[in-house]
Amino acid sequence: MTGFASREARAAFIAGLPKAELHLHIEGSLEPEMMFSLAQRNGVSLVFENVEAIRAAYDFSNLQDFLDIYYQGMAVLLTEQDFFDLTTAYIDRAATDGVRHVEIFFDPQGHTARGVPFANVVGGIARALAEAEARGISSRLIMCFLRHLSEDDAQATLDEALPFLPLIHGVGLDSSEVGHPPEKFARVFARARDLGLKIVAHAGEEGPPDYVWQALDVLQVDRIDHGNRALEDAALVGRIVSEGLTLTVCPLSNLKLCVVEDLARHPLRRMLAAGLRATVNSDDPAYFGGYVNANFIAVADALDLTRDEIVTLARNSFTGSFLTSAEQARHLAAIDSWAAG
Ligand code: HPA
Ligand code: ZN
Repeated sequence: MTGFASREARAAFIAGLPKAELHLHIEGSLEPEMMFSLAQRNGVSLVFENVEAIRAAYDFSNLQDFLDIYYQGMAVLLTEQDFFDLTTAYIDRAATDGVRHVEIFFDPQGHTARGVPFANVVGGIARALAEAEARGISSRLIMCFLRHLSEDDAQATLDEALPFLPLIHGVGLDSSEVGHPPEKFARVFARARDLGLKIVAHAGEEGPPDYVWQALDVLQVDRIDHGNRALEDAALVGRIVSEGLTLTVCPLSNLKLCVVEDLARHPLRRMLAAGLRATVNSDDPAYFGGYVNANFIAVADALDLTRDEIVTLARNSFTGSFLTSAEQARHLAAIDSWAAG
């Protein structure tokens, strides 16, 4: 237990550590209780009888298993107020976990395809994030394209986003990875870059190292989401290290989606040892069993992470963020002050 008297002491250290969350799908923070209440409020019928039945369905063997339920769950989200309530509930949880800054993904195509106006989605999320700012939690919003849909569909989504670009900081790529390589979206990401948007992409969660190469070479990402399978290719690891790119790693997600067999075999420590700037994130906390502190504590217990490793992970969450360097420096000083006791 390097640096701590007990597991409890390590958990308390983690809990109070200032941190940023860089990989959070807002629709994946929809807790079963809210899914039920929104279904009632909006007159949407659910296939599940109660909250327990919903939770029991969260037994996944791969990414697609999860996505099938994730898209079903988000069908209760209709109004601007729904997206406000969803985001506010996440911010409340994040505040409890010592999150000072969050970069939130949203999946507009999961909503516009059901007839929900783009403005309801962005408007509700942004209104909640403005309130969060007043509570001392800063944020950035990242619009993801669903990779199982066509590039034309992604282009149309970028068109719809144009009036809202002051609220949107970057674009990402998520949903079913295998069979949908980054190069499928080369043109829409080039356009997003020209618009001055930051670029991220899920790569190497289930997909091969070649998809991570494509995220770097074709999409020209500023950050890689997951990136686990990059470790299979030493030259790729060297490239990510030399570019100083951050990986947004999601331990409980990896466990629930069977990306790792066991948290004790999670590659997080190997990533840090290889010089990769790894961070810890919750991905879809309502579905994977925990928010950011639960992810930190579970992986710290499984790998017996040291105090230095935990501090490095928290520092990486700010240095890998899209905050300015002055804002990053302020948060790094707060980490140092907590770590100094
Ligand atoms: N991977 C890919 N797409 C997703 C995820 C994920 O973990 N969560 C929500 N959409
Ligand atoms: Zn994700």
